[in-house]
Amino acid sequence: MCGIVGYIGERTAQEVLLKGLSRLEYRGYDSAGVAILKDGRINAVKRQGKLSVLARELASNPLSGTMGIGHTRWATHGVPNDTNAHPHLDCSGKIAVVHNGIIENYLELKKYLKKKGHRFISDTDTETISHLIEDNYKGDLEAAVRKTTAILKGSYAIAAIHEKDSGRIVGARCDSPLIVGIGKGENFLASDVPAILDYTKEVIYLENHDIVTMTRSGVKITNGAGRVVKPKVSKVKWDISQAEKCGYRHFMLKEIFEQADVLQRILDERIRRGRIVFDELKLKESDLRCIKRIAIVACGTAYHAGLTGKYMIEEYARIPCWVDTSSEFRYRDPLVGEDTLVIIVSQSGETADSLAALREAKRRKAKTLGICNVLGSSIAREANGVIYTHAGPEIAVASTKAYTAQLAVFYLLTMYLASLRNTVKRSRLDSLVSQFKKLPSLMEDLLAEYKSDYNKIAAYAQEFKRYYHEKHNKSYFLYLGRNINYPNALEGALKLKEISYISAEGYPAGEMKHGPIALIDENPWVVCIATRSKTYDKMLSNIQEIKARGGIVIALVTEGDEEILHHSVNYLVELPAVEEFFSPLIVVIPLQLLAYYVALEFGYDIDQPRNLAKSVTVE
Ligand code: G6P
Repeated sequence: MCGIVGYIGERTAQEVLLKGLSRLEYRGYDSAGVAILKDGRINAVKRQGKLSVLARELASNPLSGTMGIGHTRWATHGVPNDTNAHPHLDCSGKIAVVHNGIIENYLELKKYLKKKGHRFISDTDTETISHLIEDNYKGDLEAAVRKTTAILKGSYAIAAIHEKDSGRIVGARCDSPLIVGIGKGENFLASDVPAILDYTKEVIYLENHDIVTMTRSGVKITNGAGRVVKPKVSKVKWDISQAEKCGYRHFMLKEIFEQADVLQRILDERIRRGRIVFDELKLKESDLRCIKRIAIVACGTAYHAGLTGKYMIEEYARIPCWVDTSSEFRYRDPLVGEDTLVIIVSQSGETADSLAALREAKRRKAKTLGICNVLGSSIAREANGVIYTHAGPEIAVASTKAYTAQLAVFYLLTMYLASLRNTVKRSRLDSLVSQFKKLPSLMEDLLAEYKSDYNKIAAYAQEFKRYYHEKHNKSYFLYLGRNINYPNALEGALKLKEISYISAEGYPAGEMKHGPIALIDENPWVVCIATRSKTYDKMLSNIQEIKARGGIVIALVTEGDEEILHHSVNYLVELPAVEEFFSPLIVVIPLQLLAYYVALEFGYDIDQPRNLAKSVTVE
């Protein structure tokens, strides 16, 4: 949700800021702007629309200067237009501020500032910050930012510059991410690592309430108590090429195709001599032996990974488990205490609701574990223990490889807990581990079938578009799955609606008769997950019921399934045979590809779908 960058050094700030913003566009893309300081004057340019609109403007009228701040926006307060775009200036135009987050008490602050004579021009909450800094400025920008943040309620990562403080950028954070990149004779500020990786791999992950003052040659950090702290500088292990498209038409497609490698990497890292190892877990084995229940809490795709995790954990580790969306968990009165393990799943590690749910669980004395992708993220740092998914940067808004990485971690965690608690025989565990090890190459072979754009699923998507128009845009999708693949039905539907804006619903197939069957006529396309399982025959009956009512069926089946041929399904996708327990990792691939190709057919912006953002740092 909004990306911010800051640069101070010798390079042309405009270039560094635009490049940084291009790497943060996944966080929001409805408007963008920069403010650059040159010869004691701030020049700000902001444009509604994608970053390319701003870039075009700056290409025709470049700004010179070697320090500045930039922003890419996902609107919360005020429609996307040039005025509401960041940076926001104070009355005098001497102070510029970019902000990610929401200032909850902005109306009250705005009233107070207006009374004091401040003139507001935008509808944003952010503009209160620039006026407050103006109000508090007595010749020291850092002190003014400190005084300002002390009265802000809500979440923020900000960067501020002042014409009279021409050698400094001041940043601050509370519940929105902010990192510092350390260079030689230059320093950087950003919402996320990819923004600075072209220039440096040395980063400082700021803590909540930290305030950072950056000059060309140094970085000073003071904590919430106002004490100067010695920052921990971390080295980023991945390369910027991982955040580039590398010849793929979209990040989403690239990330789908990376999944076999991601899985292989996770297995190599976590399985050593047949045993599962979580080096960074930090939770004591004795504690994990004693837990009586598990709550899995997450949002969006991570929630679906959590739902699948419940099936795994209950089947093999035999611990009662429930799954909540973070936004529900945080506001009800969940039954968690010292004997509960609360697992927060989050790709970004910054999702506001998930972070709040984590804090709620800690307040109730539960043991907490984060399953996160982004190193040093808030959830990873605040949970008692963490397991990183190490999927590499995920840029497309629609999550794919982070999902399979989360599933992989749940498989490993299940086996780890089962072994710790002796709920499964050693021989069965060994067989699970060895089957799991075969998954990356099976996934690789499956993906290879879809390397060309002229593949079977792309053809089905084309057919859907034709049908959709023939039916006067009344077609839509239903996804049916059962047991451990039911969450995949939800995930398939989510992927499709996220990027193709076509209605899609996921259902446990057994619930068909309790409602969804009423929807069936010739309009819906029903994706049936009918791979070999203990409920295979029941899924065949569902398929019959849909066909009998005129629905169009795409069946995902196990290779060599001949029985399905008697059921006159419209479209077939064959998948490699794996034990039902591991099938979600294989089944999700065609679901992701179907969503991708439908969106491609309709010509939508796949990596940056409308109204969405990858990292939802507001409630
Ligand atoms: C947003 C993204 C989804 C993601 C969800 C949870 O809605 O668009 O792709 O699954 O947030 O994000 P998290 O970073 O917590 O996994």
